[in-house]
Amino acid sequence: MPAPAFLLPSHPLDPRRIDPQFVREARLLRDLGGEHHLVDHDALLAGDARAAVDRVPAGRGPFWYRGWMLPSDRYAAFAAALAERGGHLLTSPPGYASAHELPGWYGVFEGATPQSVWLPLAGAGSGSGDRSGGGDGGGDGAGIAPPGPERLAAAVAGLGGRGPAIVKDYVKSRKDEWGEACFVPELADLPAVARVVARFVELQGAYLAGGVVLRRFEEFTRVVWDAADAPSGGSGRDRDQDSGLPDDGRGGRRRTVESRVWWLDGEPVLVGPHPDLPGCPSAPDLSGVRPPVRTLGCRFVTTDLAERADGSGWRVVEVGDGQVSELPRGIDPSRLLIALLAA
Ligand SMILES: Nc1ncnc2c1ncn2[C@@H]1O[C@H](COP(=O)(O)OP(=O)(O)OP(=O)(O)O)[C@@H](O)[C@H]1O
Ligand SMILES: [Mg+2]
Repeated sequence: MPAPAFLLPSHPLDPRRIDPQFVREARLLRDLGGEHHLVDHDALLAGDARAAVDRVPAGRGPFWYRGWMLPSDRYAAFAAALAERGGHLLTSPPGYASAHELPGWYGVFEGATPQSVWLPLAGAGSGSGDRSGGGDGGGDGAGIAPPGPERLAAAVAGLGGRGPAIVKDYVKSRKDEWGEACFVPELADLPAVARVVARFVELQGAYLAGGVVLRRFEEFTRVVWDAADAPSGGSGRDRDQDSGLPDDGRGGRRRTVESRVWWLDGEPVLVGPHPDLPGCPSAPDLSGVRPPVRTLGCRFVTTDLAERADGSGWRVVEVGDGQVSELPRGIDPSRLLIALLAA
């Protein structure tokens, strides 16, 4: 079988150029002797997959995609449009959905990840797809109704009924609106849960993926990270036990220290920081993560890992499809690209 070729997003204003965000990967690929072709992300999102792939030569592949997140149904249309041209993606549409959306991977990672419940919402899409991966909100055009009080109460009961929690959809949170639309200090306060969930649904708007997820909040090691993306206040490591509000009162933000591990065929091929904290070192213990990654059975995935604040072990914060996971600045992805070219 020939080496896989890569499909990268084109520039939003010029279909012959590469999206600036992926220029570095394209250069590295070229240096490694890899082949890439451009696809039109906006056309994929708009539902015009045939037009999106019309610059991809027929009869080529297999392909890895490296690009912006796509809703799962759009990924499936992308795969179908390539198949019409005799090409195929190495990650199947069901494989993409199971790594990309929490309900797809949760069962396999249960016990290794914070306890979670989810409520599908009528009218929600099948995964974030804007170029920022989360967006400034889908606006008010979507009109998706948040879950009613009975459904929320049942979900809260499913999480044990009390304690702190976080809210997200099947793919993304609104972590930058932490107090307003992400963090729930106490599940037993049902009106407060309803408020945070309603605000989350409103802000996600048309970008809401699948439904609402509630996860038990766990205390992870956090670091003060300032706007210049550098640790402030000395070493910055912080193992205190407050309830997660990220403001440190000095203009810095307290963020979970997460490692992003890139897995290919069940092996970790690249370990680095989460893109939110480029340059922040961490050395995760992968022993508990390898078995579920293998069970999930997707060839190319990422896991974001955080250490419990009491030092008692590493937890999976989330799983992602490796094709649409963001690479942090400052990390050399050559090892990963070499492995993908040899897959
Ligand atoms: N159960 C949890 N307990 C404590 N903190 C959590 C929990 N789940 C998520 N977090 C933290 O909340 C923030 C958002 O979480 P998450 O990674 O799930 O959202 P996201 O929007 O998908 O982020 P990204 O795609 O940028 O990684 C992160 O800082 C994460 O460390
Ligand atoms: Mg995350």
